[in-house]
Amino acid sequence: MPGSPDSVVVDGGQPGEHARSVAIIMDGNGRWAAKRGLPVAEGHRAGTKALRRTVEAAIDLGLETLVVYAFSTENWSRPEGEVDSLMDIFGETIERELPDLVRQGVRTRFIGRRDRASAVLREGMTRLEEETAGNDRLRLWVALDYGGRAELVDAARRLVEAGVAPDEIDEKVFHANLYAPELPDPDLLIRTSGELRISNFLLWQLAYAELVFTDTLWPDFGKEELEQALAAYAGRRRRFGGR
Ligand code: IPE
Ligand code: IPE
Ligand code: MG
Repeated sequence: MPGSPDSVVVDGGQPGEHARSVAIIMDGNGRWAAKRGLPVAEGHRAGTKALRRTVEAAIDLGLETLVVYAFSTENWSRPEGEVDSLMDIFGETIERELPDLVRQGVRTRFIGRRDRASAVLREGMTRLEEETAGNDRLRLWVALDYGGRAELVDAARRLVEAGVAPDEIDEKVFHANLYAPELPDPDLLIRTSGELRISNFLLWQLAYAELVFTDTLWPDFGKEELEQALAAYAGRRRRFGGR
């Protein structure tokens, strides 16, 4: 098939069973830096390089959607110096990556709260979204100041504000009030760095995602690890509660 991903390892799976939408909890930047005696900011900087590699791998492997967790609503509780450097790194990364994302056909959008980021960062986020809006090769979603609980609470608030009657609320209506209803439910969630938890990521959307955990620290993640996770996914049978 022209243009189809030929390098996806579908070990044990049927053709066409590969994951189309992948979510990643990019964890382990701090430990990566500590292991090298580097400041934590250097770990976060190295993490942005891993994201660049992973976006390229996602394109090569024919993924449709990649959603990555960059900063949680709880990450504001980190030391001020780390939060400040992370915000600077987000801004720098948007500037640095924008031309390649435009050129490579990556439509980039953000999910999460916008009101707590600096005006400069918000402006960068909006510009990246606008300048890649016409792209359709890979849909990249970056969860920044994102919390799954906050998203559900905001959806509930919107429903009440819109005066929706209790008996009109069903899963479809609720889903339509999430931050980005067009974001498909991830088929596969990958978490790096050996932690075995969700940490408030996409609580609604991950309901039936397959989970893959790897000990690799995020700055060391790349195409090979992504292929391994996709191969693990391809070997699984999803049941969605059925037989
Ligand atoms: C993930 O790496 C990046 C963010 C949460 C912003 P960490 O900074 O959490 O890395 P560890 O878990 O301390 O190693
Ligand atoms: C989750 O990682 C958030 C991101 C990767 C952005 P954390 O490092 O914040 O999660 P916990 O604290 O270990 O659960
Ligand atoms: Mg962590």
